[in-house]
Amino acid sequence: MSFKSIFLSVFLGTTLIVIVLIFNANRPQVERNQPSSEFVRASGKCAECHRRETSAVVHQFEGSMHAKHGVNCLDCHKAAEKQETQPHMGFSIAKSLTAKNCSTCHLTEYTQFLRSRHAAPAWAAVAGAKDFSAEQIAFAEKYHKGAVNRPPNPLAEAEGKNAIDVGCLGCHDIGKPNDDGSIGTCTACHARHSSSVALAREPETCGQCHMGPDHSQIEIYHESKHGVLYNAQKTSMNLNAPPKSLTTADMSVPTCVTCHLSGLDGLKVTHDTSERLSYWLFAAISDKRPTFHQAQDAMKETCLRCHTQQNIEKFYQEAEGIVVDTNAKIVEAQKLMQSLRDEGLLTDAPFDEPIEFLYFDLWHYYGRTAKHGAFMGGADFVQWHGNYELLLKMVELKEIAKELREKNTRE
Ligand code: HEC
Ligand code: HEC
Ligand code: HEC
Ligand code: HEC
Ligand code: HEC
Ligand code: HEC
Ligand code: HEC
Ligand code: HEC
Repeated sequence: MSFKSIFLSVFLGTTLIVIVLIFNANRPQVERNQPSSEFVRASGKCAECHRRETSAVVHQFEGSMHAKHGVNCLDCHKAAEKQETQPHMGFSIAKSLTAKNCSTCHLTEYTQFLRSRHAAPAWAAVAGAKDFSAEQIAFAEKYHKGAVNRPPNPLAEAEGKNAIDVGCLGCHDIGKPNDDGSIGTCTACHARHSSSVALAREPETCGQCHMGPDHSQIEIYHESKHGVLYNAQKTSMNLNAPPKSLTTADMSVPTCVTCHLSGLDGLKVTHDTSERLSYWLFAAISDKRPTFHQAQDAMKETCLRCHTQQNIEKFYQEAEGIVVDTNAKIVEAQKLMQSLRDEGLLTDAPFDEPIEFLYFDLWHYYGRTAKHGAFMGGADFVQWHGNYELLLKMVELKEIAKELREKNTRE
């Protein structure tokens, strides 16, 4: 090859590269961000096409640990055992995904989740036992006696099917029985494609469901010292720290999960949200759970990563005082209701007389709120949304009871 032709080809080659570069720079942003070869290997044809069809899904996936570790679209979207498939653009994908698809790679987390009240008990709290197999009921009853083997909720029944489907089950479907025999959904806390622990550590993620007058956990958290500090300091925290090595240096202020799920400074991570709870605070009258001692020790272990023993014992003593007091107040109200029933002044049906709603609000809103507030640092909820309302509703309850009795003697 002559010098001239070498020069010519180098010149032409360089010009071509420059032209390509200029052309490329002028292309729209979306098109220029073509996936890297590594990314194409990880997610293949699905991502290539879905970048156009449903780009948000691909962006969420790209930022995830799954993309980093080479888990691809089909790894999740292929049918697991007992799942229906559908043909899709030359692939075969599952008609719908459940906790089962995640469990194929994360069996430990699924098994812990299955033991928790987020699984079958959550669904049964609304719809009763009828949607579960005998085996599933037996499994859940081993951990939570009476939590699944029960009739459909009478309030839900009174409100009707559409209200149940969109209302109650909008939260309680975290424990939905799936057609493939698995229970529940993992995406309530991790989302479908970001699969993020940072997201799961945000209080607002739990607050989707843990909110409102009957379980004001997110509101209580926001007014607690923990919540105030977290909101002020979260940008300096490492919410993405790997669960197995999370330390107080990553998160020096607890969010919901720090106390209820996380492994902090070497403690064990758990997807069983019941493991650290010593009372049934959601009940009208809160008894100790059968696992009282070990559960309370486990929660205190978490507090002790950041606090002194003395402070934590004092905190628990005060909170337990609120449980004892609240129980006494609810017992008084319960006895009054029972005496009205015994005197024939109320029907046996629930939720058909105003006083039944008053009694329900008394324990279900204000009693619970006082107890939750006491255990999670919400003074306003122990007081104004708790004990003040308990006092007021008790006065109203007695007044209505008196009227019912007077009306009865007049007739
Ligand atoms: C050639 C383009 C193309 C390819 C390749 C492709 N998809 Fe799709 N996909 C689509 C289109 C188009 C839709 C429908 C979008 C809509 O309805 O807006 C769709 C819908 C879906 C849905 C929703 C289905 C439903 O029933 O709602 C899922 C899940 C899905 N694709 C996953 C995948 C996975 C996983 C792969 C790779 C195995 C893949 N897709 C490959 C184009 C594609
Ligand atoms: C970690 C598991 C996982 C991975 C990885 C994953 N998906 Fe999904 N995807 C899900 C789940 C769960 C759903 C909800 C499906 C359901 O409810 O039946 C879903 C839903 C979808 C939908 C329907 C979205 C909608 O809102 O209508 C599309 C489209 C989709 N995925 C495409 C993809 C593509 C493309 C990839 C790869 C870039 C991908 N997915 C990777 C778990 C995954
Ligand atoms: C094909 C196997 C596979 C499937 C299916 C799968 N994952 Fe993963 N997942 C992984 C791997 C691999 C990692 C990264 C390594 C690790 O943390 O073990 C991971 C990590 C995670 C993490 C930790 C992320 C972090 O930021 O540290 C979460 C949360 C997670 N997966 C949730 C899910 C959920 C929810 C589903 C179902 C919708 C799912 N995974 C389905 C393999 C899988
Ligand atoms: C905003 C989300 C949400 C809605 C809507 C909702 N719940 Fe709940 N429910 C929860 C949460 C969160 C708890 C756990 C409260 C706790 O432990 O303090 C709970 C607890 C319960 C409990 C006590 C726990 C148990 O297993 O016995 C029952 C019963 C219950 N809900 C029934 C219902 C019924 C019936 C409806 C509809 C009429 C309903 N819920 C609507 C979120 C919701
Ligand atoms: C999709 C709704 C939903 C989300 C999101 C959710 N929960 Fe729950 N949670 C529930 C329901 C419903 C119950 C009540 C189950 C029952 O006892 O019937 C519950 C119960 C609980 C309990 C009490 C368990 C027991 O044994 O009494 C704890 C603790 C809890 N959740 C913590 C959390 C934390 C922490 C988060 C966030 C990481 C969270 N939850 C996210 C719906 C949800
Ligand atoms: C109530 C919310 C919630 C639900 C539901 C949930 N997770 Fe998690 N998950 C978390 C939190 C919070 C963490 C991070 C714990 C921590 O802070 O150390 C986590 C961490 C993980 C990790 C990383 C664990 C590790 O040790 O590296 C995996 C994998 C995971 N979840 C999978 C799942 C699967 C699979 C399901 C469904 C069976 C599921 N999660 C359901 C909240 C949830
Ligand atoms: C500082 C630690 C801490 C934080 C932060 C925290 N909790 Fe709690 N939580 C507790 C303690 C302690 C109890 C009572 C435990 C017991 O019964 O022994 C409790 C009780 C509960 C219960 C009541 C279960 C029942 O029996 O009715 C639920 C539900 C709950 N927390 C959810 C949450 C949610 C959601 C958040 C965040 C918005 C949160 N917690 C934040 C420590 C915490
Ligand atoms: C990850 C660390 C961490 C964990 C776990 C934790 N806390 Fe805290 N807590 C803090 C920090 C930080 C403060 C603010 C302390 C300060 O101002 O010096 C705080 C403040 C408090 C306060 C208010 C003190 C005051 O007078 O201002 C109480 C009460 C409290 N925590 C109780 C608990 C209890 C009970 C638990 C366990 C159920 C717990 N904490 C778990 C970090 C933690």
